[in-house]
Amino acid sequence: MNEPLSIAGRRVLVTGGAGFIGSNFVHRLLAKHPDAHVVVLDALTYAGRRENLHGLRDTQMTFVHGDIRDPEAVATAMQGCDYVLNFAAESHVDRSIETPGDFIQTDVYGVFVLAEEARRVGVKRFIQVSTDEVYGEVLEGHSTEDWALNPRSPYAASKAGGDRLAYAYWCTYGLPVVVTRCSNNYGPRQYPEKLVPLFVTNAIDGEMLPVYGNGKNTRDWLHVDDHCDALLTLLEFPGIEGETFNIGAQHELDVLTITGTLLELLNKPKTLIRYVEDRPGHDRRYAVDSSKLTRVTGFTPKIDFKTGIRQTVEWFQANESWWRPIKQGEFREYYERMYGQRKVLGEVKA
Ligand code: NAD
Ligand code: DAU
Repeated sequence: MNEPLSIAGRRVLVTGGAGFIGSNFVHRLLAKHPDAHVVVLDALTYAGRRENLHGLRDTQMTFVHGDIRDPEAVATAMQGCDYVLNFAAESHVDRSIETPGDFIQTDVYGVFVLAEEARRVGVKRFIQVSTDEVYGEVLEGHSTEDWALNPRSPYAASKAGGDRLAYAYWCTYGLPVVVTRCSNNYGPRQYPEKLVPLFVTNAIDGEMLPVYGNGKNTRDWLHVDDHCDALLTLLEFPGIEGETFNIGAQHELDVLTITGTLLELLNKPKTLIRYVEDRPGHDRRYAVDSSKLTRVTGFTPKIDFKTGIRQTVEWFQANESWWRPIKQGEFREYYERMYGQRKVLGEVKA
């Protein structure tokens, strides 16, 4: 018989909880389960922001500043936890093209360190937050969980390594692992290197929006709250150990369409668009079939894109004090490296 799972009154370890999705998840978990206690383990890399967790009390959350590659830090953080969600990762494809080694270290080796400790402690559930990018480019149709993996960037390949390593711990050691593969998220607190926050903040400042190639690359866009709610469902759902679940919105849009929507919401001109040299190995399309998640758990996303993207734009408009300091620091050097010398292929005339 399956053991009932409940995070009520339990300690939940959230690695990478100071990042975009992790911090939204912590806020959402504690809003829905005020009696749970969250332990955040985060190395506070450039993408991890302590301020993403402001407003949470010590009685609700313990913050451990540490690295998932460090067995001691992991052991300290996992002490007394029955539930683990691993969000910690190097997560940006463009950076993985620059420095692939960091990605292999955190996204593969880090999963090993976490899984080893989880096995020692005997956790009740271990969710490895993977990505739809592990399937590689999907030119036609929708990837189901049984598709072969064909990652094509160092980021996607290292996530595929972590994804299958977690699964191997289920097969070999019975660690109660669930793997999730979600599509592109958007929402508050997303680091402004990713498409939506980069374009919103650049447009607010009247700066150019660098569209890679012809702007026809397509992604499936899911609001971060829907992703978090799917994970909360899977955290307690019985009898799914060893399973993998796609999570998607069935809302495909190409980069140019999203860019047009953002400019319209911000009342900014299309002349800000610059077509620039493409990302090497740029995957044309990702598209997941998430019917297994709905069939098994009943979960469906609730936030329609029009509402979600408007609220996201409004969040960035209302929270300049969050993103302006970020855009001054390490980000500035990154931006110069990534875009400073990049060839401009075309402009949009007034
Ligand atoms: P993010 O880059 O915003 O945050 C990553 C967090 O992990 C940061 O807080 C960072 O400090 C922390 N971190 C990095 N390396 C660490 C290490 N070695 N030890 C401890 N902490 C470390 O990423 P995100 O967009 O919030 O993504 C979170 C997870 O979700 C990642 O695993 C990513 O692969 C996955 N994912 C993201 C998306 C998306 O659209 N953003 C979609 C599907 C899956
Ligand atoms: O699919 C899930 C994945 O989505 C996650 O696993 C990753 O962590 C997350 O970063 C995201 O990867 P993408 O590469 O799809 O996201 P990004 O925001 O970098 O790019 C989205 C699309 O926009 C992609 O086609 C590249 C394009 N783009 C991006 C940037 C930053 C541009 O045209 N110009 C840009 O400056």
